[in-house]
Amino acid sequence: MASSFLLHHHLLRPVLLQIILLIISPTYAQTISHRHIISLRSSLTARTGQTTAWLSPSGDFAFGFRPLEGDGTHFLLAIWFDKIDSKTVVWCANGNTPVQPGATVVLAADGQLSLYDHGGQEVWNAEVNVTVTYAAMLNNGNFILASSDGSFRWQSFDHPSDTILPSQVLGVGKGLRSRLMDTNYSSGRFELSVGSDGNLTFYPVNIMTGYAYDPYWATNTTGNGSRILFNESTGTIYLALANSNIYFLPQRTYSVKDFYQRATLDFDGVFRRYIYPKNAKSTSAGWSTVGFQPPDICRNLTTKTGSGACGFNSYCISGGGNQSVDCVCPPDYSFQDPNRKYKGCMPDFAAQNCKGKFTLREMNNVDWPLSAYEHLSPIDEDRCKRECLGDCNCAVAIYQDDGQNCWKKRLPLSNGRMSDYVDRRAFVKVPKDSTNGKKKIVIVTTLVPMLLLLVCLGLFLWKKNRKQVPTLGIPITSSKESRGMDLELNLYDMFTIESATDNFSINNKLGEGGFGPVYKGRLDDGQEIAVKRLSTDSVQGLKEFKNEVMLIAKLQHKNLVRILGCCIQGEERMLIYEYMQNKSLDTFIFDKKQGALLNWRKRLDIIIGIARGLLYLHQDSRLTIIHRDLKASNILLDKDMNPKISDFGTARIFKADQNQEKTRMVIGTFGYMSPEYVIDGTFSVKSDVFSFGVLILEILTGKKNRMVHQSGYSMNLIGHVWRLWAEGRCVELFDEVMGCSYPISKLLRCIQVGLLCVQEGSKDRPKMAEVVLMLSNEGVALQEPKRPGFCIEGTPTEQNSSSWKQHSITPNEVTVTMLEGR
Ligand SMILES: *[C@@H]1O[C@H](CO)[C@@H](O)[C@H](O)[C@H]1NC(C)=O
Ligand SMILES: *[C@@H]1O[C@H](CO)[C@@H](O)[C@H](O)[C@H]1NC(C)=O
Ligand SMILES: *[C@@H]1O[C@H](CO)[C@@H](O)[C@H](O)[C@H]1NC(C)=O
Ligand SMILES: *[C@@H]1O[C@H](CO)[C@@H](O)[C@H](O)[C@H]1NC(C)=O
Ligand SMILES: *[C@@H]1O[C@H](CO)[C@@H](O)[C@H](O)[C@H]1NC(C)=O
Ligand SMILES: *[C@@H]1O[C@H](CO)[C@@H](O)[C@H](O)[C@H]1NC(C)=O
Ligand SMILES: *[C@@H]1O[C@H](CO)[C@@H](O)[C@H](O)[C@H]1NC(C)=O
Ligand SMILES: *[C@@H]1O[C@H](CO)[C@@H](O)[C@H](O)[C@H]1NC(C)=O
Repeated sequence: MASSFLLHHHLLRPVLLQIILLIISPTYAQTISHRHIISLRSSLTARTGQTTAWLSPSGDFAFGFRPLEGDGTHFLLAIWFDKIDSKTVVWCANGNTPVQPGATVVLAADGQLSLYDHGGQEVWNAEVNVTVTYAAMLNNGNFILASSDGSFRWQSFDHPSDTILPSQVLGVGKGLRSRLMDTNYSSGRFELSVGSDGNLTFYPVNIMTGYAYDPYWATNTTGNGSRILFNESTGTIYLALANSNIYFLPQRTYSVKDFYQRATLDFDGVFRRYIYPKNAKSTSAGWSTVGFQPPDICRNLTTKTGSGACGFNSYCISGGGNQSVDCVCPPDYSFQDPNRKYKGCMPDFAAQNCKGKFTLREMNNVDWPLSAYEHLSPIDEDRCKRECLGDCNCAVAIYQDDGQNCWKKRLPLSNGRMSDYVDRRAFVKVPKDSTNGKKKIVIVTTLVPMLLLLVCLGLFLWKKNRKQVPTLGIPITSSKESRGMDLELNLYDMFTIESATDNFSINNKLGEGGFGPVYKGRLDDGQEIAVKRLSTDSVQGLKEFKNEVMLIAKLQHKNLVRILGCCIQGEERMLIYEYMQNKSLDTFIFDKKQGALLNWRKRLDIIIGIARGLLYLHQDSRLTIIHRDLKASNILLDKDMNPKISDFGTARIFKADQNQEKTRMVIGTFGYMSPEYVIDGTFSVKSDVFSFGVLILEILTGKKNRMVHQSGYSMNLIGHVWRLWAEGRCVELFDEVMGCSYPISKLLRCIQVGLLCVQEGSKDRPKMAEVVLMLSNEGVALQEPKRPGFCIEGTPTEQNSSSWKQHSITPNEVTVTMLEGR
């Protein structure tokens, strides 16, 4: 019948002959009769209460205007299953910009397919620039624009939304993007794509910035020209590689004759394969899931910087036959937006101010991995709870039921999950009604650099008596909190260290730290170590510091270098640290060639890392620790260029409400020391902030903060930056080795933070907690910096020799000790 119709038509209108042919796609052959051809100059208009669409010959699929669920006034330009009640949408052109009644889709005379809103503005265009002579909605759900020879010039199958259909192929570089919510078709939080390397990956996307986090599921395959195939006769979906097929969903076949089928990257991040019986009675009709990936998104999806599968402060539960995902708030927390659960939860109560009375609510099998700021071990449950209740920062304590491990977590909580496999209990801190201030014990202690050695010394004597391989017996928890493993502080013997460092050979010397030279070594088991050989005159026999030593040994943060043990022999005292492959920051930023390895992103990461480490020292460990000698050469870099603060030889412990201390012995490095420290000998967390500010400026400019002489004037880096800042010329500052594609506003913001940190008045400088907030959150408004301390700005060289300026001119960068004679 069709052919006679064709012939008839041919006789009447020869021009159309070429159009009315078999339309053959590489994967799917079908006949389209003239009736179903959409000719040039055709159009559809969106109308309230009406569906306007072009149907496929079988009537299974429609292309046209689909009203949004629960909203009569907005339409999607979409393709949907037209014979089923739910009219499931499988493709849409304008999910981010639904249109209103009066909008039109036009196949223009030049073959352009465009969507115009009710005001006539173009919203979307298929962007075809070759000759198109007609369009058609095919029976397999593919909407095509074809040329007169029947070849497809554009097809919706090549531009998928969140769904693939039988016979559709998802080739290299193509992907699916989930929608935001079940009924909101805006670009959602997940993507799936086939990489050119043959790796199929699923990953979360930040909907605000478009930033893609690490994948939460991958086939880990390699191979050229890989693609996802959805076999149209069996309904199986697999990743086809050059010489193998990876079936990443259950292989069970469902005939396309009996079932409608689709596979969708759902708004919850799970890729599900669905079937819908074609001949079912209306009662049992509906999509059922016949396979999904990943196995458990709550478990698989862990982001280091994002919130995880659910929003911040919520937790994820998944299960059931279709692995449905739900996001839930902890007790006394509620959704930021109940209609947008993915946005996470907020506490119902005001932020803790350390005055209110709090209690803990217990939840079984719940954890927020990766967000701990302190790990305590070994510890019993009661103490774990008390630790959290007594700590303003603590929002949740997680206790592992092995009776060993307790983690303190602060807001925002991320990667939350609840499931049987989580062998941890969460204690969520919520307010109690009555109020009663908590007393604080105030102790001021001095951290002598050799504290650790004292314990070692004790052990050494003990070892002499026991003749056994000793350890300090101080369980130290690793910063890899999720593993919760305990480390022991080792006591190494001299022989081991001598052989590890090749008898302290000059070739193994890494540099000179605050209290002596540092050597690289390699233990028999292959572990690389850094050995710090301390000068011999500083040990004072102070047993009572043993407790503090234990605390110091417990300082564990990923941005602090880890101590492995110590070694004592006769007069020799050595500290053994983990070895950092990339040496110290100064070898990179002050070197043109090495500096090229650090792009702006890496540099910002390093700045943030140092800030976090310092914040930990200042307030997140249980003590307040002032480093006093923060400088580029004390920032070590591991193999991934993560910064680690080292050299606590000069550090001091403050407790509770002690704000500052005065010393007669000023220890530090010129160029990094704050004015009040150099001039008065007073130091506080704010003197470290000053040093950190100098570091920011150095990292971003690649220049040292020492005197530079320029045309008869001498100035330091701070002065130079301050002048350019005042003149609005900061862009000139950035180290050219960062490349030219850095985001200027981000870096300017960072410079501003640096300038805030080096302000002359210590009270004006922000605390590290504020610094971290300013650096990691672009929404936080920054103040205008006031004049910096030690700002030597174009001073004529010969003049002006107040004591500190003379010091600043000294070229060496080693730590100095000045005994102020006053
Ligand atoms: C449009 O034409 C250019 C140049 O002829 C070609 O490179 C491009 O791929 C075409 N775009 C489409 C969507 O066909
Ligand atoms: C979908 O969600 C986005 C983001 O919340 C919102 O801007 C948009 O208006 C929503 N669309 C509809 C149709 O509700
Ligand atoms: C996802 O989690 C499962 C266990 O539920 C694990 O076997 C699998 O390796 C994980 N996959 C990825 C990509 O992390
Ligand atoms: C792919 O590799 C990742 C990282 O090595 C691993 O966690 C995951 O389990 C692997 N996925 C599969 C499906 O084997
Ligand atoms: C595939 O991607 C995952 C996630 O990024 C990665 O861990 C894995 O190494 C990749 N596999 C291959 C073979 O490239
Ligand atoms: C992939 O194909 C390209 C070009 O066809 C070829 O140069 C390359 O070697 C292939 N890679 C692999 C891993 O087979
Ligand atoms: C689909 O599966 C059938 C049966 O296994 C097979 O004969 C056919 O070649 C497959 N089609 C494609 C396009 O791979
Ligand atoms: C999963 O199954 C549950 C209960 O059977 C149902 O309520 C939910 O809508 C399903 N979710 C999906 C994504 O299919």
